[in-house]
Amino acid sequence: MSTIRTAISAGALALLPLVATVTAVLPATPAHASASLREHAAARGKFIGAALATSPLANEASYRNIASTEFSQITAENAMKWDATEPSQNQFSWSGADAIVDFATQNNQQVHGHTLVWHSQTPNWVQNLGADAMRSAMQNHIAKVVGRYASNPAVVSWDVVNEVFDDNGNMRNSFWYQKLGDSYIADAFRAARAADPDARLCINDYNVEGVNAKSTAMYNLVRSLRAQNVPVDCVGLQGHLAIQYGFPGQVQQNLQRFADLGVEVRFTEIDIRMQMPRDASKDAQQATYYSNVINACLAVTRCSGVTIWGFTDKYSWVPDTFSGQGAALIYDESYNPKPAYTAVHDALAAGGGTPDTEAPSKPGKPSVSDITATGAKLSWTASTDNRAVTGYDIYRGSTKLGSSTTASLTLTGLSPETAYTVHVVARDAAGNTSTASESTSFTTLAGQPGGPCTATYRTVNFWQGGFQGEVTVRCTTAVTSWKTTLTYPSGVNVTQSWSSTLSATPPTFTFTNAAWNGTIPANGSATFGFIASWNGTGVPPTPTLS
Ligand code: G3I
Repeated sequence: MSTIRTAISAGALALLPLVATVTAVLPATPAHASASLREHAAARGKFIGAALATSPLANEASYRNIASTEFSQITAENAMKWDATEPSQNQFSWSGADAIVDFATQNNQQVHGHTLVWHSQTPNWVQNLGADAMRSAMQNHIAKVVGRYASNPAVVSWDVVNEVFDDNGNMRNSFWYQKLGDSYIADAFRAARAADPDARLCINDYNVEGVNAKSTAMYNLVRSLRAQNVPVDCVGLQGHLAIQYGFPGQVQQNLQRFADLGVEVRFTEIDIRMQMPRDASKDAQQATYYSNVINACLAVTRCSGVTIWGFTDKYSWVPDTFSGQGAALIYDESYNPKPAYTAVHDALAAGGGTPDTEAPSKPGKPSVSDITATGAKLSWTASTDNRAVTGYDIYRGSTKLGSSTTASLTLTGLSPETAYTVHVVARDAAGNTSTASESTSFTTLAGQPGGPCTATYRTVNFWQGGFQGEVTVRCTTAVTSWKTTLTYPSGVNVTQSWSSTLSATPPTFTFTNAAWNGTIPANGSATFGFIASWNGTGVPPTPTLS
């Protein structure tokens, strides 16, 4: 008896799946036309955020898709404000705030909490309190709201006080100020620090983007609070701009002077409105303003990122507030990206300062493995780049077969028994592409076009008068049953099988799955074996599989 184990054939034939659902061929890996805003921002060490409204978040898939894929930080547009979280004294309502935090957690995003102490969207019961009761209510509100999320790693920062100045840079004569003077500001920060020692605590306002009287008043307040050890970590510049009023002056210098106080700075509520209707020239000017904002943040190390106040013109506070104005965001009402989107994207991709014109290095020649009738795995040595390689595209001639963000890709949807010569091109965030890698050629296995399964035969061992064979069935999509047929030259008779049910009509032998191994998951396999008698000598014949 010979004990030689001979791997006879990689020649494989598709099996006939017995259920209709297994006939679909998986599409190739979706092409990555370009990296997302959040990927580019991450490459710069910044966040890119959006304010989200809870209703479309619950009801619209397009809204959720963009919100999750494009942004790395989210702010509740309204759901964390006082009227939403504590509409009656000590009666807290968390549904909206929790929905925002849960969404961020699911999508690996950070949450910036907005806002704890504000003169607007604060219930009458707060406004009607006396001074001592109002201070206690404020401290309790902060303790409960910040405390609820203190141990949640998604929630990283809070607007502790919002809009404490009037338009001239004087203290706003709000009900807070009237009852408590400006002491409520320091008290609010201290209460927030006590509730979450790790959260970054911000003061936030509008019309403070450039250097002006109001931003200078804010600068002086932040400097004074920090000198008194009040825990102000961060300054938020809202950025509700309008193209008809011009871009604010000295924005980068303004960011830098706050940064030089030792605080983090950020744009918290960017939107850039226009007189309606939109046209190409207004869109272009708006796009330039968006780039200016991103570039100012990129130029200042302590600027942590930029949040846009919404993202689609379908949902924006602007038209309800400024009659005849709108279109302030980076996607239109139908979720199409506008020139403003491209501006934000390209500014983040370029990284500020000089545009990136350096291409990634040439990727290594791809090696091929796991060839099937409809697929093959390619792996190559990664490229390097002066900033970052953001992806690879795999081509057959000029046809893109797929894309990958790593140095390997399993191609799917290929044609059986077909020769492929492929190469890889690397790209970076600015869209620079490498020279093509050396090409690799391979031929897919035989198979029934469209079938998800292939079979591979080998002779396990043979002896005088017989041999043992084995067949492995591999499927790229899940099946619940399978069968394959082996046809031998005359003189072979399969006499028994295991892990399958044999139907022998020599010279054809059909094997169907056993009751327990009919189900093969996507990219899984099943193996069966058999014993055959044979009247020849030497290496047994190879069957034809079908
Ligand atoms: O929830 C009620 C709803 O029940 C009611 O049917 C509807 C009728 O008008 O009103 C709804 O409340 C609205 C709320 O947004 C939620 O949509 C309020 O009327 C409306 O005034 C409120 O506007 C918000 C505004 O703050 C309030 O001051 C905007 O959505 C929000 O974008 C805006 O955000 C502020 C920031 O918090 C601070 N900086 C300025 C920024 C823009 O004003």
